[in-house]
Amino acid sequence: MKILVIGGGGREHALVWKIAQSPLVSKIYCAPGNPGTAALAENLPISVDQLDKLLAFAYENKIDLTVVGPEQPLSLGIVDLFESHGLKAFGPSQQAAIIEGSKAFSKDLMQKYHVPTAAYGVFTSQMEAEAFIRRTGAPIVVKADGLAAGKGVIIAQTCEEAITAVRDMLSGNAFGSAGSRVVIEEFLTGEEASFLVITDGIHIVPLASAQDHKAVFDGDQGPNTGGMGAYSPAPVVTPDIHEKAMQQVIRPTVAGMAAEGRPYSGVLYAGLMVKDGEVKTLEFNARFGDPECQPLLMRMKSDIVPILLAVAEGDLSDVTIDWFDKAAVCVVMASEGYPGDYRKGDEIAGLEQAGAIDGLYVFHAGTAQKDGTCVTNGGRVLGVTALGTTVKHAITTAYQGVAQISWPGVQFRNDIGKKALERV
Ligand code: AMP
Ligand code: GLY
Repeated sequence: MKILVIGGGGREHALVWKIAQSPLVSKIYCAPGNPGTAALAENLPISVDQLDKLLAFAYENKIDLTVVGPEQPLSLGIVDLFESHGLKAFGPSQQAAIIEGSKAFSKDLMQKYHVPTAAYGVFTSQMEAEAFIRRTGAPIVVKADGLAAGKGVIIAQTCEEAITAVRDMLSGNAFGSAGSRVVIEEFLTGEEASFLVITDGIHIVPLASAQDHKAVFDGDQGPNTGGMGAYSPAPVVTPDIHEKAMQQVIRPTVAGMAAEGRPYSGVLYAGLMVKDGEVKTLEFNARFGDPECQPLLMRMKSDIVPILLAVAEGDLSDVTIDWFDKAAVCVVMASEGYPGDYRKGDEIAGLEQAGAIDGLYVFHAGTAQKDGTCVTNGGRVLGVTALGTTVKHAITTAYQGVAQISWPGVQFRNDIGKKALERV
């Protein structure tokens, strides 16, 4: 089979790495990919939003399966476009990807189908938003309705801060059109978990549990990022929480999307807040999480290709997924300044030494090849990911890899996996 992976981050490197292990696969392309995927696939100079070029390539090269990594092409309707030309693609339709593309849509869906979530309001008027904020009080959460690369969420500690955030969004200065409508919601406390399932719209197969680390600094301090590290399994997802997540969140959502005429196929990612044995839903994503995908795929024992293909063909009924009974930990190494403005073009030292460590794999995200060396080219640069017999073992190995790698201004969290350690 010939497979095309769309995207160029750590998630897509992990997907290419896993797909490359399948005996069913003869050739992998990645658009646009990164220097990491280049070692396993042929990178194509096509960006994720150039849908016509991606389609032309897949059509002319008789691609058997296209796997869409990021949200943007899903929201632009890439799966519909490919399917209308007889090409198989893994991911939700445009109508279904709105579950991530509009937070107002997903909150209204949750309310309608009784999926537990924070109390909220949706606003386009500054005055009404202000009144809601004053009534609710702080801390309070302000979210841009549309896609904002994981950065459109402001946890405001005071009403004034929330009001300023709303003004910045509604004026279009902060997140462009993504912020022309805002969701304002109750601040939830607890421990977060990333709960991902694969579904064809009817059958649902849960993936192993995972936990992300959203804040940029140790101890969950500082602004939120796309994710500074992740591990799997997440002990916070006990068998009871797993059951609640399936019964109260995933099943009603998949059924609700079908009832809304938006049948959902692909990965459904629920961001959960767990507290006192109960779950609430923070958000839905229409794709694999990044960095969660990196530790998850390291733990996946099954060949991923028949799973992705079954979803693209619309019948998951015969699919089960086996996992290694091990823990995986991914530490993200990021550029100085991320998630704000950051520098690019610094030479990365130590990649080979880290790559030689047993049980460790360095997934590339924001890297580029320049004059024969690998340089930084994004906010999140690498995902140093290790598999271990225990989470402690995986943490130790991952940080051994991190210690080998450096560039000027490199930043990473020192406490990835700590919450799992506290629970085991
Ligand atoms: P979202 O993209 O909606 O998941 O928000 C990104 C991150 O913001 C989440 O992973 C949480 O860390 C935080 N967050 C979002 N909504 C809330 C909430 N209602 N209460 C507390 N934290 C939240
Ligand atoms: N790591 C969070 C996300 O992929 O949205």
